[in-house]
Amino acid sequence: MRLSLRFIVPLGIALAAIAYAVVPLVDRLTLKWFVQDLERRSELIANTMQEPFADLLRENSRPKLARYFEGVIRGERVFAIGFCQPDGKMLYATRAFPPQVSCDPQTLAADRDRVLQLEDGPLHVSVNPIDEGGNRLGELVIVQDMSFVQRRSEDTKKYIFYLFAAIAAVVALITVVIAEISWRGWVAGIKALISGEALLRSPEQVNVSAPELRPIAKDLQALVHDLESERLGRDESQTTWGPDALRRILREDLKGDEVLIVSNREPYIHERHDNVIEIRRPASGLVSALEPVMRACSGTWIAHGAGSADRESVDRYDRVMVPPDNPAYRIRRVWLTEQEEKGYYFGFANEGLWPLCHIAHTRPVFRAEDWEYYKTVNQRFAEVVVAESRTEDPIVLVQDYHFALLPRMVRERMPRATIITFWHIPWPNPEAFGILPWREEVLEGMLGSSILGFHTQFHCNNFFDTVDRLLEARVDRETFTISYGGEQTEVRRYPISIEWPPSALAHQLPVEECRRVVRERLGMAPDLRIGIGIDRLDYTKGILERFMALERLFELEPHWVGRFAFVQVAAPSRSSIDEYQNFEARVRALADKINERYGRPGYQPIVLKIEHHTAEQVFELYRAADLCYVSSLHDGMNLVAKEFVAARDDDRGVLILSQFTGASRELHEALIVNPYDIEQSAAAMHIALTMQPEEQSARMRAMRSLVAEFNVYRWAGRMLLDAARMRHRRRVLSRGRRAPRLTAAG
Ligand code: G6P
Repeated sequence: MRLSLRFIVPLGIALAAIAYAVVPLVDRLTLKWFVQDLERRSELIANTMQEPFADLLRENSRPKLARYFEGVIRGERVFAIGFCQPDGKMLYATRAFPPQVSCDPQTLAADRDRVLQLEDGPLHVSVNPIDEGGNRLGELVIVQDMSFVQRRSEDTKKYIFYLFAAIAAVVALITVVIAEISWRGWVAGIKALISGEALLRSPEQVNVSAPELRPIAKDLQALVHDLESERLGRDESQTTWGPDALRRILREDLKGDEVLIVSNREPYIHERHDNVIEIRRPASGLVSALEPVMRACSGTWIAHGAGSADRESVDRYDRVMVPPDNPAYRIRRVWLTEQEEKGYYFGFANEGLWPLCHIAHTRPVFRAEDWEYYKTVNQRFAEVVVAESRTEDPIVLVQDYHFALLPRMVRERMPRATIITFWHIPWPNPEAFGILPWREEVLEGMLGSSILGFHTQFHCNNFFDTVDRLLEARVDRETFTISYGGEQTEVRRYPISIEWPPSALAHQLPVEECRRVVRERLGMAPDLRIGIGIDRLDYTKGILERFMALERLFELEPHWVGRFAFVQVAAPSRSSIDEYQNFEARVRALADKINERYGRPGYQPIVLKIEHHTAEQVFELYRAADLCYVSSLHDGMNLVAKEFVAARDDDRGVLILSQFTGASRELHEALIVNPYDIEQSAAAMHIALTMQPEEQSARMRAMRSLVAEFNVYRWAGRMLLDAARMRHRRRVLSRGRRAPRLTAAG
């Protein structure tokens, strides 16, 4: 509307000005034409009257003359007529002859045609000579009424005004339409330039309809692309990664898009103990990494409700807000029958995929029945994802090997979703993976993801090799993408980490106090050196090898007997699986054997705690320890290593780390060992126990600054930034496809 006024008003003014100048001109012209007409008419009347009038004059009969004049007036519709004699006297005049017209010969000679303005209106007076045989008989004065001229002039003025108004309206309309179209093109072009939208497209897709803007758009586009890639690189390294940075990415880069997490293990478990409901945090690296992320994102976390009081703690939509003391996001619980849990979780996931992916020399077990349950449960979770999504294109963060099939199932239901699957455990080489009877289905399911993440490049490469070997897919190792069935999956390395600073550290006592308190609680001498191991009770963690290394240390360096003890916390895990039960028995037996061999009253070389510990209790142990030994036989990352480093704000303590963990690729200042090499591991323990405080500090400081910088917010932030980039690109491309005719570059 405002735009139209912008054009109509100036146009209207211009046309009014034209009308103002033109109307009087036209008025003058028409008056001139009418006067000329009247003159010619008078001349014609006079010529017609010439002969009969001369005869009448000769007869000199006034009544005849009067009748003749009245006849002329009536017939020719003349206003008045009079005859002036050469001596300046009026011979005869009709009744209406204006008294202002005299027969003075001089006046008559000077003004043969004139317009007489009277009160009642203008009159045209013309003086016409009447001759006979060369003698002038006198002057015939013909007076014609000009009021019709005035009337016509008024009419003409009116018509001209209407005509110009009509022209103005038509011209204005055409102008507005044209202006509107080109203005929109300009505005859209300029807006696109300013907003940068047009500049993020490929040159063929520069959607600036104003051709004159296209060259500028193209130049700016190149510049913006440079700045954009620079920004992404710079952002990642220059951001201070914390909850605020994540919130900023969600707000600015993802424009507040919806985030859903899917994992098997839930972050808060409600359990009933003697009529009291208690909330437990599970021992899961995945959960401890994702929980702070979810607190920052305020999304929905979909997980299996496995706690004994989980059902009574949810609302009628199976949802519960958490954390309990400061609700920030919600858990949507999914219920499984005992058979479903047995087949999907214990069976296919933990007896099949877990040992398959961890090269820990435990044979995987594949049962067709478990596979069926695995498919059913994946489908159930996929449906819950769809049901919980408020939008068509949420960001779905799929966690781990429990949901290899879910990405494709969600993709089929929500083609516009951004699905980021993170595989928290290692990915084996193609030979190892190839023994899985449903290998193609698993790979196809995973390739429903938009982005597929592993902790290390080594695992990414194993995945590329596996797909290359087992599927008809295009694997591009230069762009880290796999194209399968017309869709593309980016395969990326995202090393997971922990929150920094860890919340479990917030209320810890000073390190000296922790050392004292822990030793007191465990009945140890105050100066006893302590090593710790914190794990789930899992055969991949190398707990037996750890104990063997301790035994070997005592054999090689007996002076540590009585002066050094190892505290092993092993959270019970997957205990209904035979392999885990056997493992527990073996761990207990070995600990007993070593304790029997080297223990004495008041001293136990191995303190084995097969029970759940809270994060605060674990952090207290980290702070009380002289060394922490992470001896995994194969591990995607291992967050215990990073937590130990984070707990040591006194810059002391030594980390011994298995070379088969993802963490060993980052924490180079740890004492890196092969846990299978018992001699080497024993030596590492000895080195750790004798390491000078300065060296401990130097190593610990370096590792702390790395974990602080590459914390879990950065891990999640990088994935979300990649998701944002991917979504932006997809939006731009789909816009380009919708308007193919507008996209031709100039
Ligand atoms: C590993 C897996 C996680 C799992 C955790 C605890 O870290 O990668 O997905 O949650 O172990 O195992 P659990 O079976 O008790 O959930």
